[in-house]
Amino acid sequence: MTATASKKTYSVQLIIGSQWGDEGKGKIVDLLGKDVDIVARYQGGPNAGHTVKFNNTQYILHQIPSGILRPDTDCIIGNGLVINPESLMNEIDTLTKAGIDALKRLYISLNAHLILDYHIAVECAGGSGESTASTIGTTGRGIGPAYADKISRIGIRMQDLLYPEQLKEKLNRNIKLKNDILQSVYGADKVDEQKIYDLLSRFTAIVKNNIVDTQSMLIEALKSGKKVLLEGAQGTHLDIDFGTYPYVTSSNTTVGGVFTGLGIAPNQIDRIIGIVKAYTTRVGKGPFPSELTGDTGDALRKKGSEFGATTGRPRRCGWFDSMVVRYAVETNGIDTMAITKLDVLDIFDEIKICTGYQYKGKKLSYFPKDFNVFDNIEPIYQSVKGWKQSIAHVRSYEELPVETKDYLKLLEDTVQVPVGFISVGPNREETIILS
Ligand code: GDP
Ligand code: IMO
Ligand code: MG
Repeated sequence: MTATASKKTYSVQLIIGSQWGDEGKGKIVDLLGKDVDIVARYQGGPNAGHTVKFNNTQYILHQIPSGILRPDTDCIIGNGLVINPESLMNEIDTLTKAGIDALKRLYISLNAHLILDYHIAVECAGGSGESTASTIGTTGRGIGPAYADKISRIGIRMQDLLYPEQLKEKLNRNIKLKNDILQSVYGADKVDEQKIYDLLSRFTAIVKNNIVDTQSMLIEALKSGKKVLLEGAQGTHLDIDFGTYPYVTSSNTTVGGVFTGLGIAPNQIDRIIGIVKAYTTRVGKGPFPSELTGDTGDALRKKGSEFGATTGRPRRCGWFDSMVVRYAVETNGIDTMAITKLDVLDIFDEIKICTGYQYKGKKLSYFPKDFNVFDNIEPIYQSVKGWKQSIAHVRSYEELPVETKDYLKLLEDTVQVPVGFISVGPNREETIILS
């Protein structure tokens, strides 16, 4: 095991999911959030569910960066996000009830887009057989339709809230268009225009002082030597360009999303930490070469509590797949891995790692781009002996059982990136930082 975390202080660090989301990004953002001034989200929306646990309390953040739980950290919702007003107000409320005044430290980009009722209605129209919500297995949060409006240049942005007359005009045009589609194409109910106006006027009253030019804010913060942590949502293989399309989300979850979603420059990032679950999970449909559909998959789901933090859906589970993670490393420039949920593997006699794929008698050197290849690939596995004991209490690498070290060594060798963090439980302190 190579030591990676040096005494160097990082100015900008990026936390990125290396599989299909839910890798434990929230936990690691919270951990590193202690030593930074700003935590910024750059893409996605309320499809994300980032869990943080400390002092016997669990928080699930959807749109507000997980850094909000650190009392001295400012938080940015960047221009790359799509924001659901109702769910953001709920999140602010929940934090207020927990004694956290989120509005004091939250900055929302003027250019972030809004998710409105008609986006959700369009995503769910067609019902359980035909809607994109069911064919792709989306979270049903209106993410795709909201990003589609952004690209079509008819989206409603946070800055529109500051100009009620213009907002009314834009909304009126969109609602007419969407209601036409909902009724004539899908035979679905129309959305209620007045309800949307009422919601937006409540929302504006609450957040109007938090809507700012977050790009300039970040640039100035970096000039003055502040430390920034960038919080990715979803994971590399859910990226609209680099993921298993069409079974993906509608944003760039990979490194490029940082630059378009916040407006900072590539050479400002000092460290890219890939969050890597010690096995693999996926929610929703799409290829999953190392998926385990029998008892072993069920055991992973049970021990790892693998149920979605946003929708509560059971997550599909499988062995660690180094082809998946190596692709994430190459796509994002990941230089450090944070291995999470290693304790979930405590129960197995034998643990497998997928080290490659066999396709028509040949070993593939890259994660497939040709979608049809997924139908015919055979994962190649290497096994290690399980450690069969609890590691949740372990706080140093040296104390880990020898079998756990063997597993980590195999994982590191197949991915070819050093491990900097090992997480052995959901709580803040259940972490080994390698130094
Ligand atoms: P995210 O979307 O990447 O932030 O991940 P989620 O919060 O959706 O899912 C990760 C789940 O695993 C949450 O319930 C966390 O509390 C939990 N978790 C994180 N790290 C660990 C760990 O090392 N061990 C265990 N057992 N649970 C963990
Ligand atoms: P975090 O940030 C896991 C999945 C959905 C679906 C696909 C498209 O918590 O890791 P969408 O609603 O985005 O259009 O759905 O992407 N998905 C996630 N899976 N974690 C997430 O976020 C996800 N966000 C979206 O299940 O398969
Ligand atoms: Mg999640």
